[in-house]
Amino acid sequence: MRAEIDAAAAVRTEDQTTRLADYRPPAWLIDEVRLDIDLAPRATRVRARIAFRLNPEGAGSGAGVALPPLALDGKKLTLVSASVDDADVTASPFLTLSAEGLVLAAGALPGEAFTWDCTVEVDPESNTELEGLYLSGDMFCTQCEAEGFRKITYYSDRPDVMAPFTVRLEGPVETCPILLSNGNPGAAGLLPDGRHFAEWHDPFPKPAYLFAAVAGNLVAHRDTFTTMSGRNAALTLWVRPGDEGKCAYAMDALKRSMAWDERAYGREYDLDVFQIVAVSDFNMGAMENKGLNIFNSKYVLASPETATDVDYELIEGIVAHEYFHNWTGNRITCRDWFQLCLKEGLTVFRDQAFTEDERSAAVARIDQVKALRARQFTEDAGPLAHPVRPESYVEINNFYTATVYEKGAEVIRMLKLLVGDDDYRRALDLYFERHDGQACTIEQFRQCFEDVTGRDLSQFALWWHQAGTPRLSVETRWQGGVLTLTLRQHIPATPGQAEKAPMVIPVALGVIGPDGREAAETHIIEITTEETVLDLPLPDLDPGGPAPVPSLLRHFSAPVILERTVEAAERALVLAHDTDPFNRWEAGRRYALDIAHALATGAAAPEGAAVPEAWCEALAQLAGDAALDPAFRALALELPGNDEVAADIVARGGLADPDRIHAALRAMRRRLGERAGEVLLGLYETMRPEGPYSPDAESAGRRALANRALAPLVATGEATHLARAEAQFDGASNMTDSIGALALLVHHGAPGATACVEAFRQRWAEDELVMDKWFAVQATAPLPDAVARARALTEDPAFVWQRPNRFRSVVGAFAMGNPVGFHSLDGSGYRFTADWLLRLDALNPQTAARVSGCFESWKRYDEARRGLMQAEMQRIAATPSLSKNTREIVERMLAG
Ligand code: TRP
Ligand code: ZN
Repeated sequence: MRAEIDAAAAVRTEDQTTRLADYRPPAWLIDEVRLDIDLAPRATRVRARIAFRLNPEGAGSGAGVALPPLALDGKKLTLVSASVDDADVTASPFLTLSAEGLVLAAGALPGEAFTWDCTVEVDPESNTELEGLYLSGDMFCTQCEAEGFRKITYYSDRPDVMAPFTVRLEGPVETCPILLSNGNPGAAGLLPDGRHFAEWHDPFPKPAYLFAAVAGNLVAHRDTFTTMSGRNAALTLWVRPGDEGKCAYAMDALKRSMAWDERAYGREYDLDVFQIVAVSDFNMGAMENKGLNIFNSKYVLASPETATDVDYELIEGIVAHEYFHNWTGNRITCRDWFQLCLKEGLTVFRDQAFTEDERSAAVARIDQVKALRARQFTEDAGPLAHPVRPESYVEINNFYTATVYEKGAEVIRMLKLLVGDDDYRRALDLYFERHDGQACTIEQFRQCFEDVTGRDLSQFALWWHQAGTPRLSVETRWQGGVLTLTLRQHIPATPGQAEKAPMVIPVALGVIGPDGREAAETHIIEITTEETVLDLPLPDLDPGGPAPVPSLLRHFSAPVILERTVEAAERALVLAHDTDPFNRWEAGRRYALDIAHALATGAAAPEGAAVPEAWCEALAQLAGDAALDPAFRALALELPGNDEVAADIVARGGLADPDRIHAALRAMRRRLGERAGEVLLGLYETMRPEGPYSPDAESAGRRALANRALAPLVATGEATHLARAEAQFDGASNMTDSIGALALLVHHGAPGATACVEAFRQRWAEDELVMDKWFAVQATAPLPDAVARARALTEDPAFVWQRPNRFRSVVGAFAMGNPVGFHSLDGSGYRFTADWLLRLDALNPQTAARVSGCFESWKRYDEARRGLMQAEMQRIAATPSLSKNTREIVERMLAG
């Protein structure tokens, strides 16, 4: 029986798999597109006039060869009429329609160039997938990446077909006073019957996935930017009436991004206008449509009362990311979707560098690595592992992953480290010059680096092609004034890749002398073989004295797992003296992980076991060190999460028990509060910045430290500390302090929590983004009745589960941010999650598939939990109507 199911699954996958090896250039190119869109909620008419021309490099061309057919993608379209050079083919026997598109046989094609004129009808109101043209409230909007344009009209919906677009939008003045599309504005005017129109022209050839149109009742927040060559760009942020007051920060971030791309990459904006639209119903964060970015409103709207410091930072980073795509993604795009990392890895790296420049580089890097380890290392270690540039997929939307984005960015970062800043800039200049207006591959990007540096990067390229996080083990020896390091790399097997070749690993290495002083400054060592032995003579040190300490992978120079046994004395030296802030933070994190591991896997119950005093003291020392940046100190005070400890236990050959891990972390937090109470209280009382709220990095860092100091105090359960949190909640003048206090109270299960939850709701019931926070705080509470609480949240009338943000703030937050609840031993957390995934999948496969990744680490856990998770995944997989999106994820998780 089992074998039969597997065979059936294999056949199904076989049919739907797209392979890089099967890439063929398009048979037809497009010189120009004209779209007329006549908007109506139930029946929008789209007329497309497309100038096709035979591709001389296409599969179907060559002297004496018959013309290839015209095959166009199309989904959920109602064909009204079609013609070729004015000859009607709507009912032609040469035209074949299917659920995936149409084929017009060569017999109906007049020659090597012709105009296709086609009118279709689409139904935005019934579009719950939020892909193609859909409604968010009564606002029309589009999402076309990766393959959504085919739900708007028949088209060659692939990124290597690029064309200039002219768009005419028509709709009722009353409900759609604003009509937007890509590029520069053209004619606009009134029409009979209360209707109007607007034209837009985008002169830059672009693939269809960058198309966008928006229509609705929107208000503008405007500004201007003068580019480095003196051109003026009109900047507009479009939001719903009432949200005008929440635009200033995103606009400021946009202008800083534009200036940064000129400074750092010499890249200038290229249209007369740049627009951002905030939309409430959105599957992801934001989308870089040419000249008309569309954003999840969560990453645009901010006021001190409604947005946290973290929200502000995310807005800044995502505005920058989408803006940077204008060059890395839009002017130069991807040849096919296997090259996704060409635009995403590079653009993430660029937005990370922007954040490092605008804020604290060390703090930004620590945040990046935390996210990388939590999401990408987890992915790389589990059944969903895939290379940064995959070679096959079933559903491309499932490959917008931490590996493509975050590991993709790490690859660019390593490349820059290896070739140096100057050659990096030269290589990028060459890339922009050589490939502007083209759809490219990773090989073409790499070639620019090879041409500039003369280096052979074929071994380095394994970072794009081999999945799995390399392990780097290090042994040291101190003898005769020479520090000898033996480094060995090993890359674990991943699905479909059993054997791996050694990779190029740049290791930023410094040495700390036994007195705490820097004995060797940072330099970059390139590991290229399985084993590398390195002799470092250190003539300034006493050869007979204590061993110096290597500081490896400074600033996290490569996305690898370092395997090295660290003695207590060595750790203390790094914690106190390393000049590299990343490694100082790392030493503290490692210290906490070691303790959490010991408590969670020890013989005694974690609650009763002793938390080392030395750890509390070391942390108090770091947190209280006024010479350090408050934001850094806040990070140093943070304990690892439940999932991080679980991964660490598994890496050491054990199985994870989320309840024990939770108990261990709680014991550590409580002990820290008891032992370091005075220091923490001092920080709590002095760190919060005075005066009106400002979202700048320094103020945010001080608030973060104050709030972080309160957590261990609340964990002691002492009434005075709980009262402090309540007072903070009552008196808060900004969302950071308000939600920070609320989360501590709710997660601690404090008696006063319920009243605060109610008060918060009363105040914010009308603000959907703030209510998302209200739901998420409760959904992530690690309390014994977590599942019942999550279920109650789904019964709340405000739980509009069809909206992705709301679904993620309850089901997503519970499944990914509440390990105690999700992993409940009776399986109720898994069942709750699977039930909701199935419900959402019927409406919105993209978001359902994404959240279903919450089961990916099922093999980390004890047999009972593993079996329960497997059963829920099997139940999902057995649902006949399951989407291709969720099916691919669930079947890969089960198979891996
Ligand atoms: N290209 C977008 C970005 O990284 C992400 C994206 C891909 C997306 N598919 C999407 C956004 C679907 C929204 C919906 O910036
Ligand atoms: Zn992107």
